[in-house]
Amino acid sequence: MTAGAAFSRGLEGVIAAESALTYIDGQKGILAYLGIPIEELAEHSSFEETAFLLFYQRLPKRAELEGFQSELIRHRALPEPILDLLKRLPRTAAPMALLRTAVSALGHFDPKPDDVSTTALQEKALRLTAQMATLTAAIGRLRKGLEPIAPTTDLSHAANFLYMLTGQKPTEEATRVFDVALILHADHEFPASTFASTVVASTLSDIYSSICAALGALKGPLHGGANEQVIRMIIEIGDPSRAESYIKEKLARKEIIMGFGHRQYKTYDPRARILKRYSERLAQQTHDTRLFQIEEIVEKTVIEALGGRGIFPNVDFYSGTVYHYLGIEPELYTPIFAVSRIVGWAAHIMEYLKENRIFRPTTRYVGPPLGHYIPIEQRT
Ligand code: SDX
Repeated sequence: MTAGAAFSRGLEGVIAAESALTYIDGQKGILAYLGIPIEELAEHSSFEETAFLLFYQRLPKRAELEGFQSELIRHRALPEPILDLLKRLPRTAAPMALLRTAVSALGHFDPKPDDVSTTALQEKALRLTAQMATLTAAIGRLRKGLEPIAPTTDLSHAANFLYMLTGQKPTEEATRVFDVALILHADHEFPASTFASTVVASTLSDIYSSICAALGALKGPLHGGANEQVIRMIIEIGDPSRAESYIKEKLARKEIIMGFGHRQYKTYDPRARILKRYSERLAQQTHDTRLFQIEEIVEKTVIEALGGRGIFPNVDFYSGTVYHYLGIEPELYTPIFAVSRIVGWAAHIMEYLKENRIFRPTTRYVGPPLGHYIPIEQRT
């Protein structure tokens, strides 16, 4: 215990690092990567360009972007033993747990896993970004008893993922929607997963260990795992006519409503606003508006009850229906979060290691006062 140090449960309000990557104004609902508002990136950028932006802290020139895209494509394929390993693991295992195992195993195929020099980390970050998508698509197929599909070399990151998952080249519309979802999830300052990965990296451990820590943190339902819980709740509600009473009953039981609330935002999460628009558009295009209608009523009911306390939809609320309308099953929603967030995790690790200092906070001691060891025969 350090005398005089402040204690904040859950580290609320504690500045744990300096970062130039992501800016959040949680009162005004502003989010920007390297100063560029998320709305503009969602409108004009691609996942690949956003990944470059976060890795190198600037937008790429055309030739740089093309080079970056080619490198991502070059690294898409997985080592054969990784696919064999995934095939041998129980089909019933949680996809996030499979992803964590696979990322750990990927480290064994890196000839220099412990190299944390800037150049080595840039290469590893790029490779992990490429392979997180391939792993997730393979897990998605294997759990349904299907063979994984090898990546293409002519599709964008978003389109190739949908292709590897379904075996069909996606439409331009589906590709764009998925690309935007990836852009929106790429980074978010210092959430539990990014903090966890940076803590591991600060010991100068290898990046695979750091990313496994991040995956473990993201998996939890209070963090990235919330997107799967949201869609399960919406499906359970089943009909718009039940939505309001379902939520009111939950609130009366003091249960938390997944997809709402945020440590940083005390207003509408700007990513949720964008995802809501896409969710609505897809609902209309697929002539299947039931789930979207339920979400709108859930949103209204929660905001009426808790909006005054700063509780609004977060990124995990509308992402589920976007993926649902793209034909993706709920078990993959959190792994898809990781397909994008690998960029933020790696970018923060690279940034932090430039001026590394090991993370070592302290606890406020609340145990017994200093005493003495009591021999077993004297214990009453
Ligand atoms: C993500 O941090 C990030 O940036 C994460 C993320 C990213 O991009 O990386 O944005 C992604 O993880 C989004 C969050 C996904 N999680 C959920 O949707 C789960 C539901 N939400 C929560 O449990 C909660 O809001 C958290 C975990 C998101 C935030 O937790 P905090 O900041 O510790 O807030 P809290 O739990 O202390 O809540 C404060 C009060 C409590 O009431 P009181 O005890 O003060 O009476 O608000 C209430 C809470 O009960 N509250 C909710 C609520 N969220 C907060 N009540 C009902 N439903 C909710 N969803």
